[in-house]
Amino acid sequence: MGERDAWKIRTAEPDDAEEISALHRASILSACASWYHPVQIRAWVERITPEVHRQLMADRRTRVALDDGAISAFCTMTMEEAMVNALYVAPFAMHRGAGQALLADAEEALLTAGRHEVNLHATLNAADFYRWLGYVDVREESTRIRGSSVALPAIVMRKPLI
Ligand SMILES: CC(C)(COP(=O)(O)OP(=O)(O)OC[C@H]1O[C@@H](n2cnc3c(N)ncnc32)[C@H](O)[C@@H]1OP(=O)(O)O)[C@@H](O)C(=O)NCCC(=O)NCCS
Repeated sequence: MGERDAWKIRTAEPDDAEEISALHRASILSACASWYHPVQIRAWVERITPEVHRQLMADRRTRVALDDGAISAFCTMTMEEAMVNALYVAPFAMHRGAGQALLADAEEALLTAGRHEVNLHATLNAADFYRWLGYVDVREESTRIRGSSVALPAIVMRKPLI
């Protein structure tokens, strides 16, 4: 079995919140920092805490990819909106198929629930990854970071599921 097939995926639990929060911050600092202004990066990273993730887990479907027991990536989604809200891979695990595996897991859950499209807001650095996986650009949109006056530009993308 190749590395791209080797990810164990499971539903996140409240005890994972510390690990997920740390990887979320590290992923932004590693992969997004050269695409956004330092003021945007600081405001973005500051609001990510274990408590925020515990709350997200309660409200949304959150899945994690494990490598040797360590959480290497997570994906949160809202089934009702057919929306992938966040997909982040730890710097040490990037480009090893975890992002692709978690996105396939999210798409499969939507299909199983009878939904035939998936929506997301791609960070500028990740848009090519999603295009490569069949997502198409809908429009550019800036979203204000909660509790801050700072906005983050992103690309609204959609993929039909068949
Ligand atoms: C973007 C991201 C989710 C991709 O996950 P990943 O596990 O690193 O990617 P995968 O290994 O599954 O990639 C599969 C393929 O997608 C393509 N790809 C991956 N990242 C890419 C990128 N940043 N740009 C263009 N293509 C990319 C490649 O073709 C890759 O295959 P290859 O490695 O054999 O060339 C991950 O790099 C990440 O967490 N980035 C920072 C956080 C972020 O921006 N998340 C998105 C928020 S919307």
